[in-house]
Amino acid sequence: MNQPTVVDLRHVSKSYSSGSKTTEVLQNLSLAILRGEFVTVVGASGCGKSTLLQLIAGLEQPSSGTIDTKAKIAFMFQDANLLPWLTVRQNISLALRLAGVAKTDWAVRVQELIDKVRLTGWEEARPHELSGGMRHRVALARCLAQGAEIVLMDEPLGALDAMTRDHLHEEIERISREAQLTVVFVTHNMREAVRLGDRVILMASAPGRILHEEKVALVRPRVMDSPEVASLAAKLTGLLKAAGSYEKN
Ligand SMILES: Nc1ncnc2c1ncn2[C@@H]1O[C@H](COP(=O)(O)OP(=O)(O)OP(=O)(O)O)[C@@H](O)[C@H]1O
Ligand SMILES: [Mg+2]
Repeated sequence: MNQPTVVDLRHVSKSYSSGSKTTEVLQNLSLAILRGEFVTVVGASGCGKSTLLQLIAGLEQPSSGTIDTKAKIAFMFQDANLLPWLTVRQNISLALRLAGVAKTDWAVRVQELIDKVRLTGWEEARPHELSGGMRHRVALARCLAQGAEIVLMDEPLGALDAMTRDHLHEEIERISREAQLTVVFVTHNMREAVRLGDRVILMASAPGRILHEEKVALVRPRVMDSPEVASLAAKLTGLLKAAGSYEKN
């Protein structure tokens, strides 16, 4: 990929102190993410994946090293973080308002976004009337409404059933390609990481650091249960296991 770097972490370390005890959560982590790239991150619980996303988002500061982020960022979590008392249309309008879009443009823009995530006809529904997958599509529309160029996803699909998840993989892939988004996607599921990623980052624990980076050369569209995806996922899981940074789930 011949694209500029949009997120550049150099020799980043992060420690937390409580009382006299200091814990190094991330150690000397360097990572350059290219525009339009889909990067997936896998590692054992507590290895610092969420901390890494918070650093990229600027919600936390590194203890040492530098982080350079060249584009607007949005976050997507497991619960899709929609406001339950607002309709789909209102949830997306709110994001446009917070992004400073002129009110006269909201109606057209909201409809465009709803069509883009294929929720046409659900404009007046409230979150509890939607399936988990649909709620995630509203959350994606909100990321786009915010004008985000980088979307940080922290285990966004962990709670979904397999069919809904497969469908969302296709949607996330399509929407991120159409909107030329850069995505950093944290997951515990290695096959999901291989299914989605242009590059898979494996993290080791205590302190958190990059153990291995794998460029995924498999052609798209990919299927999570295909032998190609399963075989690369098994190889990468083997690397995590060998480093003692693997948990079964
Ligand atoms: N604000 C904080 N203060 C102190 N310690 C923290 C703080 N945030 C995270 N930690 C510690 O940093 C380590 C990494 O946490 P983090 O949430 O980044 O892990 P993770 O890889 O996202 O784990 P999981 O897979 O369970 O979500 C943990 O040991 C955690 O206890
Ligand atoms: Mg986490």
